[in-house]
Amino acid sequence: MNSVELDPSAIPLLEPLVVDPVQLIPVDQPDASQNEPFTIWTSNRQNRMERVLDKHLPAKNIAPEKLHEAMRYGVLGGGKRVRALLSYAAGEFCGAAMSAVDVPAAAVELIHAYSLVHDDLPCMDDDDLRRGKPSTHIQFDEATALLAGDALQSLAFLLISQDSVLKSAGQKVQMLHILSLASGSRGMAGGQAIDLASTGLPLAREELEHMHIHKTGALIRAATLLGAYSNLNVDPDKVKAVDHFSKSIGLAFQVVDDILDAEADTATLGKTANKDADNNKSTYVTILGLRAAKQLAKELHENALAALSFYGAEADRLREIAQYIIQRSY
Ligand code: IPE
Ligand code: IPE
Ligand code: MG
Ligand code: MG
Ligand code: MG
Repeated sequence: MNSVELDPSAIPLLEPLVVDPVQLIPVDQPDASQNEPFTIWTSNRQNRMERVLDKHLPAKNIAPEKLHEAMRYGVLGGGKRVRALLSYAAGEFCGAAMSAVDVPAAAVELIHAYSLVHDDLPCMDDDDLRRGKPSTHIQFDEATALLAGDALQSLAFLLISQDSVLKSAGQKVQMLHILSLASGSRGMAGGQAIDLASTGLPLAREELEHMHIHKTGALIRAATLLGAYSNLNVDPDKVKAVDHFSKSIGLAFQVVDDILDAEADTATLGKTANKDADNNKSTYVTILGLRAAKQLAKELHENALAALSFYGAEADRLREIAQYIIQRSY
């Protein structure tokens, strides 16, 4: 058998990805964030996450240029960054430094962005608009969008594995374990498979819940858990509380997404309105109707808050994000 010759020019592709986040993001300032109004707290962390993602994504002038440009396009310049906000809030609640949360939170946002790039492909939801811009496969082409999603997923795991702020290898392995489970066939990808298989079918309520918990809930749960575990010495009771919180609010997130798909307009959403009904999707709205869907979102919100009832002001950011998730307009 002939051995395959490795092209040495391919190897430098890896080098620009090895960056030290400590050099990029200022080390934590003394934390005055408890007194910040929620809107300020949120925009500070959204901006911070944008910088973290920007620095860790390969530059578009590095080969393969088109792939790197598509990866950056799919991630940067849009998105509410709800998962990153949940990581930061869970991190604050659990006593983690903000700099320790940066990379785990970015990794979740990368997996999320990859899931959106693939979700919009013609073989899935066939959506031309995302975050108010042409979807990645429209801006580039289908094959590039497919590869950009693949590469974003790998980058997420790479970033955690090489993060220099997290000092414990065991801590990183635990994060990689949580994120890979939440992303794969027993998490987001599995939920997406159920979504596609159930198109046009009248799902039972339990089946719908199962689908939503996997396609969206799993990654939201991972976001809060990674924030919590960014503190190596986290209090296990606090992990249990944020975990319970995130299971409820993660399901609520997709219920609200279903409601917005039916009620909001395309310009507000930044993605095509009424896509679920057009695509014959099984959602809380198409199966149960708007009223029942809104009632469920309210109950899940209450359930999420109940998980934090033992705690005082230190859990307020999580409560505020929960409120935002329920009341958002896009
Ligand atoms: C949309 O998620 C896809 C779902 C899982 C419902 P978001 O509404 O969080 O999308 P961005 O990141 O803000 O664009
Ligand atoms: C997507 O659900 C869940 C993902 C894992 C991406 P949707 O298909 O409802 O998400 P949108 O409405 O296109 O953002
Ligand atoms: Mg979908
Ligand atoms: Mg979709
Ligand atoms: Mg949707």
